[in-house]
Amino acid sequence: MSRLLSSRWLKRCLALVLGLVLGVGAAQLTGLAQDPPAVWEVGTEPAFPPFEMKDEATGELIGFDIELMTAMGEAAGREVKFIALPFDGLIPALQSNTISAAISGMTITAERAQTIDFSRPYFEAGLAIAVQESNSDIQSLADLAGKRIAVQIGTTGAEQAGEVEGATVSTFDSAPLALQELLNGRVDAVVNDLPATLFAINDANIQGIKIVGELVTEEYYGIALPKNSADLAAMNTAIDTLLQDGTYAEIYRRWFSADPPELPLVAPALADATTATGLNWGRLFQNLMRGAWVTIWLTAASFFFGLIGGSLVAFAMISPIKPLRLLCRIYVDFFRGTPMLVQLFMIYFGLPALFQSMGLDISFNRIFAAIFALSLNVAAYLAEILRGGIQSIDRGQWEAGESLAMNPVETMRYVIFPQAFRRILPPLGNEFITLIKDTSLAAVIGFEELFRQGQLTVATTYRAFEVYLAVAIVYLVMTSLASFAFKRLEAYMDPINRPKKAPKEPLPSAVEV
Ligand code: ARG
Repeated sequence: MSRLLSSRWLKRCLALVLGLVLGVGAAQLTGLAQDPPAVWEVGTEPAFPPFEMKDEATGELIGFDIELMTAMGEAAGREVKFIALPFDGLIPALQSNTISAAISGMTITAERAQTIDFSRPYFEAGLAIAVQESNSDIQSLADLAGKRIAVQIGTTGAEQAGEVEGATVSTFDSAPLALQELLNGRVDAVVNDLPATLFAINDANIQGIKIVGELVTEEYYGIALPKNSADLAAMNTAIDTLLQDGTYAEIYRRWFSADPPELPLVAPALADATTATGLNWGRLFQNLMRGAWVTIWLTAASFFFGLIGGSLVAFAMISPIKPLRLLCRIYVDFFRGTPMLVQLFMIYFGLPALFQSMGLDISFNRIFAAIFALSLNVAAYLAEILRGGIQSIDRGQWEAGESLAMNPVETMRYVIFPQAFRRILPPLGNEFITLIKDTSLAAVIGFEELFRQGQLTVATTYRAFEVYLAVAIVYLVMTSLASFAFKRLEAYMDPINRPKKAPKEPLPSAVEV
């Protein structure tokens, strides 16, 4: 029997292996026989006017880069499909071959060229410094020493700002957000590509900002491709064709109302000696620990204030005053029913802009904004948890307290709350763990917590997988510790199975279920 079985098993295994080999072989063959894919999937970060942006009316992608790439596709007989990605995600996407190219006002740098390939230069640009109109003491990069600078994450502007002595750099996911930070008066300057900042001031009509240091660097944009991509030659030929047949000049004039400058064949930056952008594990660990620390106190502070706020709201919700109950309901529904990300943006970017438009010079720093937004959100959830917990205690318990001559506050303190607390502990723990993870949203306002530290490392090392895995592990350690602590607390609060300790002074007749 067993021999029969084993021979049958053997046959099955052999058949399986044969099938796999044939299948893979066939797939390879058909792959070889196929033409290279006819579609160019091109990544872009569409918040960089005038190079790439969404048309407000139609929602379609427009911009200089978009038109150039579309024309290149036509010249090369390829269909172009744009894929919107964050700017700091473009290089990792190219590394993993999820896109065939990226056009996103990306500067050709020697560091980037170690990880990806660039087409020939297609645009001449450079960095510029933008300050508030009233500012007269910043004229050059050197004047930025010790100042607060906003930049877009992963850009050449971020790199330049990082080199300024003593400057505090905050990084944002897009250039418009960095400019908004300047408008709101929370930073002294923005270091960003000149054409993009110029466009924001002139065409997007952002008022109150001026450009001081024009072209602090000379940069050339290139189309980025995966290393050794087979499409490189076709893209270069396409750019050449458009430069020669006048299409390039026509697109350029339309977007910049000027004649295009001569472009070099190779970006001068590629001649620079480069320092290897390897991943330094020691540095990564240090940065992640720094980020984890920020995450921990952000969580602790928000939970603390959320608990206070939540308790107040919970009591208001069970109070006999109807308008108060209604008000709390609206608050809870609003903060539970809208994404935390939107709340964060509203509070950090929206409120100061609103105040400013009303002529009030109020703006708050990001620590306040993050804790404020997170606490408001947490309080809404906690209020419901606390209210539910308190209301779940049987009415008889109130009567029991009353019959022992306790007043309502005493009944709440000694009878109701201890019982309710045990019931709300598990959802409270859930809320705490959710909060640990939600603090990562504060990265969008440039808060350098754990996730942002990871992003910043990826932006310079392009090692997305290892870095984000490390970030995830640190989060996991923190949430596991929190869940362990809540389990312990739960066990401790259990009057029957609580770990035995020397008996304490008994509470005035606590009525337990
Ligand atoms: N040229 C700069 C760089 O390559 C900034 C590009 C930003 N582009 C964008 N789509 N946000 O770093």
